[in-house]
Amino acid sequence: MNILVLNGPNLNLLGVREKGIYGERSYDDLAAFIQSAAAEAGLQVDIFQSNHEGALVDKIQQALGVYDGIVINPAAYTHTSIAILDALKAVNLPAVEVHLSDVTRREPFRQVSYAGMACIKSFIGMGFEGYRQAILFLKGHLQGR
Ligand code: DQA
Repeated sequence: MNILVLNGPNLNLLGVREKGIYGERSYDDLAAFIQSAAAEAGLQVDIFQSNHEGALVDKIQQALGVYDGIVINPAAYTHTSIAILDALKAVNLPAVEVHLSDVTRREPFRQVSYAGMACIKSFIGMGFEGYRQAILFLKGHLQGR
């Protein structure tokens, strides 16, 4: 099983940005965490981060026929991007949404998730652990559990 993990804008600044919300660990730490969570689950993973909406849309489109599922943290595009929602719907791969912070307890503009409307599950406010949970959930889903 081959999965794609997509991370949106400003997640490359983990460990620098708003540490009280996103923590001290860096994006490289997150990538290493995701790699080891996938390895533990026996899955092949590719990780991609972009600050550009179109680049994320392109990656979703290119996932068709290559990956079995997608884990996505669209970051701020969560709350704005119908293009990412449409791309997820278009490829129709099982997708799981992750947010490091608990967006349900933050500003009103973070209360809508467009991407989430095309996802089978969301893991919110669990920090890095949310990615491990998303990978395990996707694996279970792909195995028909
Ligand atoms: C985020 C939450 C978003 O609202 C925010 O714009 C982000 C990160 C999270 O992981 O908690 O950049 O997706």
